[in-house]
Amino acid sequence: IHSILHHLVLCSSRAASRYRSSKGPQAMAMAISSGLPAPCSLLMATLMLLIVQAQSITRHYNFNVQMANVTRLCGTKGIVTVNGEYPGPALLAREGDRVVVRVTNRVAHNVTLHWHGIRQLRSGWADGPAYVTQCPIQTGQSYVYDFTVTGQRGTLWWHAHISWLRATVYGAIVILPKHGVPYPFPPPHEEVPVVLGEWWRADTEAVVRQALRTGGAPNISDAFTINGLPGPLYNCSAKDTFKLKVEPGKTYMLRLVNAALNDELFFSVANHTLTVVEVDAVYVKPFTVKTLIISPGQTTNVLLTAKPFYPKANFYMLAAPYSTIRPGTFDNTTVAGILEYQKPGSPSMSSFDKDLPLFKPVLPRFNDTGFVTNFTSKLRSLATPQYPAAVPRSVDKRFFFTVGLGTLPCPANTTCQGPTNKTQFAAAMNNVSLVLPSTALLQSHFTGVSRGVYGSNFPVTPLLKFNYTGAPPNNTNVAKGTKLLVLPFNASVELVMQDTSILGFESHPLHLHGFNFFVVGQGFGNYDAVNDPAKFNLVDPVERNTVGVPAGGWVAIRFLADNPGVWFMHCHLEVHTTWGLRMAWLVLDGSLPNQKLLPPPADLPKC
Ligand code: C2O
Repeated sequence: IHSILHHLVLCSSRAASRYRSSKGPQAMAMAISSGLPAPCSLLMATLMLLIVQAQSITRHYNFNVQMANVTRLCGTKGIVTVNGEYPGPALLAREGDRVVVRVTNRVAHNVTLHWHGIRQLRSGWADGPAYVTQCPIQTGQSYVYDFTVTGQRGTLWWHAHISWLRATVYGAIVILPKHGVPYPFPPPHEEVPVVLGEWWRADTEAVVRQALRTGGAPNISDAFTINGLPGPLYNCSAKDTFKLKVEPGKTYMLRLVNAALNDELFFSVANHTLTVVEVDAVYVKPFTVKTLIISPGQTTNVLLTAKPFYPKANFYMLAAPYSTIRPGTFDNTTVAGILEYQKPGSPSMSSFDKDLPLFKPVLPRFNDTGFVTNFTSKLRSLATPQYPAAVPRSVDKRFFFTVGLGTLPCPANTTCQGPTNKTQFAAAMNNVSLVLPSTALLQSHFTGVSRGVYGSNFPVTPLLKFNYTGAPPNNTNVAKGTKLLVLPFNASVELVMQDTSILGFESHPLHLHGFNFFVVGQGFGNYDAVNDPAKFNLVDPVERNTVGVPAGGWVAIRFLADNPGVWFMHCHLEVHTTWGLRMAWLVLDGSLPNQKLLPPPADLPKC
């Protein structure tokens, strides 16, 4: 490449005049064919090839949202899907590519899709949360999501972002590095999406509807799934088992996604180790574990190296929940997949040999917070010159949010099924339980008509201070509201999120749309604004889009508000989002033309 570049300098002065006015490789090809000296043509052709390789392309997808009948756990039900597939199709792109997805709604529900973790630089209209960046796509209508994948590579995922439709409407997003750019680890023999999900026998829309009517907790799920399959530990599900077939000695990259609605999950493969190399489409310093934890919204790429010789055994891969709430109030079942080895000498992959011994991994106890803390503290940015950790060193805006559950009074003359029969479950950040408007926040911001839609007064700190991890206050009621927190363009933000003891400690996987953030600190008990900042990691903190606020603790994140728009932030436990554990940031335009939100596309749905 060096010598090509060197010769190119010599050539370019001659060639320049020929393609000065032109754009792109096609025009350059014309310049080459129009009479340059032969060696130069050759060099230009090589360069052109390099440019073509480095060039990004546009990838078109058609996503038809349609019903499909699916049978699991001996029961058949109609579910909302994309293209009839469950889980939905994987979306493949390369870093730098433009992705254009035409979504057509052919079901009776309003629908939106969200590209979870995609930065959506200046393309907030394509982000997808209903009533935040767009009105839903109504039955029979289409909307084209158009965005470019910038500076990200790894695994992300897409899902429906309205009500609980994401229970069945989700799929992986696989982002390959640019052509010719290797992984910062040995290339795996094969890459396999491993998408963890959650299955209800009942219609999940009925489940959430009933919960909202009674004020009670929604019914828990009946199973977890790997790539849509519950596996042999559930009734009549042995035939619905995900199998990972491997060859001895080869390395496999599992692209793990937690697409479950309401459960953080432990994941482990018997007698094998997992080397974590990337989370939320950002490389991390590799580290090896037997078990990992993955929260709803998060993605994790791991390398699994198969045993060097045929082991004459099969191995379960298991996922089961982590939860600090009362047993019985979450689905404490286990999904199993099976890791199988190709028999030596067999021409094709062997099928499952059930006479072989089957090994089972031991997962942590369901409430093993110590394990979770130990795992998450191992996550570090690569922080190399090629993949630097761009942590904001100074802070323009500091915020402190409480996150957690609360209550709302039961409507007069009714009984509720909340924590008491006079209350309903609710949840909030800084005691504001976000009520979504009936139009989209981003639209009302862009058109300048916020009156009657939202206020710009989201509290920067709790209005009522209390001992957040001590005895809960007597009044646990939350306040309903539609309030945004306004940030100037390019503000560097530090946000501490503090769990509360109200209705019990719980870990909350908080997801921020439109940005990655750095997890600079975490701890248990109440955040100490005097002593804790000194312990922050500003060198190689992990960079991600979803982080668990520790049960009974706090987490500190930093991000640069370099993306104008309205950006949703919420707990990715769907039940908590439903109860109001959600807010939105409004990041203003910058002064330069390329720092402004682009106008909405013409086909943006109307409410
Ligand atoms: Cu994965 Cu707001 O979502």
